Amino acid sequence: MVLPFEEFTNLTTELYGIIKDVEGYLTKREMEFLALLAAFPTTKGEILEIGSYKGKSTISLAKGAALTEKPDVTAVDPLTSPSSTDPDLEGKESCLDDFQNNLKKAGVDRYINFYQKHSAELAKEWNEKIRLLWIDGDHTYPGTKMDFDMFSPFLSDGAIIAFHDTLNDFEGGIRVFMEDVLLSKNFGPAGVCGSIGWSQYFKDPDFGWKYRDQKIKLYLKLSRLIPHIMLNDNLKGLKKTRYKIARWRVPHSEVKPEDWLKEVVIAE
Ligand SMILES: C[S@@+](CC[C@H](N)C(=O)[O-])C[C@H]1O[C@@H](n2cnc3c(N)ncnc32)[C@H](O)[C@@H]1O
Repeated sequence: MVLPFEEFTNLTTELYGIIKDVEGYLTKREMEFLALLAAFPTTKGEILEIGSYKGKSTISLAKGAALTEKPDVTAVDPLTSPSSTDPDLEGKESCLDDFQNNLKKAGVDRYINFYQKHSAELAKEWNEKIRLLWIDGDHTYPGTKMDFDMFSPFLSDGAIIAFHDTLNDFEGGIRVFMEDVLLSKNFGPAGVCGSIGWSQYFKDPDFGWKYRDQKIKLYLKLSRLIPHIMLNDNLKGLKKTRYKIARWRVPHSEVKPEDWLKEVVIAE
């Protein structure tokens, strides 16, 4: 497999300019990390995004995937902000127009297989292997857990799973990442970039379990955030400072492609 290092460097220099005006919640570091996950396939299968909003992450994934032999991205979102954790649509019924315009402007619209529905609806008809599963839909615990349970059985051996907002004030991402990924023997290398918690899935639990020390260390650091998130109190003063310190202790800096490629296992 030829790795597109040079093309990826060129992409990162222009990616922020392409996406910065799209409304959404990804930081520059997170956009680049998603593009990296899409640009360097660890195994075969689809890229599936749950939760697109106005397309910030969809475009990041598509721009990365464009550097591969398989440039398409599947995305699912009713675009109606159905969850209590969703962005406010400010009186509009849907953000479909913004989503479509943004994809077109970025030149990626023809590569997106979009399902305007809830993830549970798509799950009823889904039967494809997944090489990159990006979960950024319903951020409640039951919502994120359901997305994980519905789609993780389709992960290819060596696939990457990534959750947004594992370091933000939402219960879903952090709990499912900790409980179902970091404590699972089937997941190996793992980390956090910005607020994106990611890991690599292995069919063979003996293989994944080799990474237990790295995962447990991360689990313990993340666990310090749990009381603040679960109690859901309005973080102020000393409590806010404690939360910020706990957050700062979780390594979440930007990820260089060459370092990431040494961490993960690339299928032949
Ligand atoms: C935080 S936004 C996603 C942000 C987007 N990934 C970005 O980069 O800007 C969450 C999105 O999840 C969608 N959503 C909520 N529940 C969902 C579900 N059950 N299935 C699919 N999408 C869902 C909402 O409509 C909303 O657009």
